[in-house]
Amino acid sequence: MIREDALDSVRANVDNENLIRHMLATEAVMRASARHLGEDEEEWGLTGLLHDIDMELTGGDMNTHSRLGADLAGELGASETMTHAILAHNEAHGIVLETKLDKALFCADPLTGLITAVALVRPDKKVAGLEVRSVMKKFKEKSFAAAVDREQIARCRELGLELDEFVELGLGAMKEIAADLGL
Ligand SMILES: [Fe+2]
Repeated sequence: MIREDALDSVRANVDNENLIRHMLATEAVMRASARHLGEDEEEWGLTGLLHDIDMELTGGDMNTHSRLGADLAGELGASETMTHAILAHNEAHGIVLETKLDKALFCADPLTGLITAVALVRPDKKVAGLEVRSVMKKFKEKSFAAAVDREQIARCRELGLELDEFVELGLGAMKEIAADLGL
């Protein structure tokens, strides 16, 4: 699978620019995580890039979300490991996280949401000057961006990553593509 084709497909299926940015952010966090853990960067990145491709097509229906996405990713040439991770990232299906890729997507997804929310309450609304400790502080403040599942992010520990280490990885990755994320 070629990244350009994957991104074209995302753009063809998603109108909401913020949702596209969320997938780009997830891709960046997945790539950084793969590099850090010595895993396949391309496989992990593309899984992140495609993971919510069906969100608009399914109208956000959690019973079908990620099933269609996994099918679409498969048609684009995603491996079974990738489609399983996409399928499993929607908790509504009750699929056990098996591989490292499953686990990485599961915890990277909400991390991008938390970092974006923390950036947006800064006066400059940018990630550039954002520090790990500010994100950690907001992580502990449960009323802040309450929809972001902290437990889900904290499952990075199953990959052998401490929470602050994972936040640092994710924040660094998002800073690198800040312009694409509008942050
Ligand atoms: Fe997502």
